[in-house]
Amino acid sequence: MSQNTFPDGFLWGVATSSQQIEGGRHEGGRGESIWDRFATVPGKIADGSNPDIACDHYRLWRNDIAIMKGLGLGAYRFSIAWPRIQPTGRGAANLAGLDFYDKLVDGLLAAGLEPYPTLYHWDLPQSLQDTGGWAARDTAEAFADYAAIVARRLGDRVKRWTTHNEPWCAATLGYEEGHHAPGHLSPAEGLAAAHHLMLSHGWACEAVRREAPGAELGIVLIHSPAHPATGSAGDIDAARWFDGFFNRWYLDPIFRGAYPADAIADRTANGQLDGGAMPFVKDGDLKAISTPLEFLGVNYYSRVVMRAGANGKPEAVPPPKVPSLTDMGWEVYPAGLEETLLRIHREYAPPVMYVTENGAAYDEPMDADGRIDDQRRIDYLRGHLASCARAAAQGVPLKGYFLWSLLDNFEWGFGYTKKFGLYAVDPQDGRRIPKQSASWYRDVVAANAVTD
Ligand code: FCB
Repeated sequence: MSQNTFPDGFLWGVATSSQQIEGGRHEGGRGESIWDRFATVPGKIADGSNPDIACDHYRLWRNDIAIMKGLGLGAYRFSIAWPRIQPTGRGAANLAGLDFYDKLVDGLLAAGLEPYPTLYHWDLPQSLQDTGGWAARDTAEAFADYAAIVARRLGDRVKRWTTHNEPWCAATLGYEEGHHAPGHLSPAEGLAAAHHLMLSHGWACEAVRREAPGAELGIVLIHSPAHPATGSAGDIDAARWFDGFFNRWYLDPIFRGAYPADAIADRTANGQLDGGAMPFVKDGDLKAISTPLEFLGVNYYSRVVMRAGANGKPEAVPPPKVPSLTDMGWEVYPAGLEETLLRIHREYAPPVMYVTENGAAYDEPMDADGRIDDQRRIDYLRGHLASCARAAAQGVPLKGYFLWSLLDNFEWGFGYTKKFGLYAVDPQDGRRIPKQSASWYRDVVAANAVTD
């Protein structure tokens, strides 16, 4: 056993998102989101559920703040539902929507929790999808207007803003692979959506800075290291391919102002880009996208192992040793978080980094005494936190960690079947039921250290 201590002032938090916890689907003038619509399509949500009520956080937010205070946390990462602020994604602000987040922010500050809002965690107003969604450049303009509205109202109290959560998921899972809302299967739309998401990030940074001078801006990217299955040249190239497609397609424009040449070549070779041309990229876009950031948020869950499949096509394979898997089927691979943090620090050097999501889905039963013993989650967290501490000790400017997630919640296409929470949520009355991991995390936070 070794004791891993975190730097002084390390920020401990949890992360959630609006669509996954709020519910209140029709409350306070909220408009329809693409996920509300997607959930009405038969077969899209594994358990046939929808996010209409979710964790009922829209009503129970005071209780949730009290829980976080009880855990001793210093920060809360949540997202703002665009359809609450602008029900159709354009036009005047809906005051009841702004009031909700205004009170939430005041409540957090009163409880000693620093608010870390994310402006977009996938709940696009359906009306904007009706005019093309993220595949349309207009949506990026609308996003900058929305960001300005929110910053104008909350910017006197919110210091650190995140524009987007995981644009890879929003673009690729939503527009190219059909697993997420809006459920499209268009590689061309996927690439355009990725670009417009990043463009809107750049424009939103500008808007927030204008409305809230002194604000600190960042974006949250998902990162998975890609390892070759064998030392063969083909497998090594398959790992390079994944890294370009998943990690560098976002890191490079944001930190270097250019798309990665090798990944452009991959997309030209597979016919997705005609002669390497990207007609959706206009003059000045990459300059806007690469606006200097105060911080980067890194979400990490697992790695991928890649090989060259039939005809050399890159494909993911099960990891080499019999791995420990979470309920998502993701390998438990804590070393990958240290590798990720070191790699981003070395190659892209954001001034500050946070782990903005990390956690594991396990469904554990409640025993006769009402205890939920989720030792597997504790083990997962222990390993990953030790990895963070090692990265910080090697000079990574890692300033905080947000655990995913506070509550079992609406896990997108999996509905309520995947349980990431420190707390279970009683489906009848919304009661929050602590798992063993909740008190374990409280102890880690109090000690500012983890043993592994
Ligand atoms: C991330 C998402 C988050 C949640 C976790 C498990 O990709 O940002 O909303 O779904 O995965």
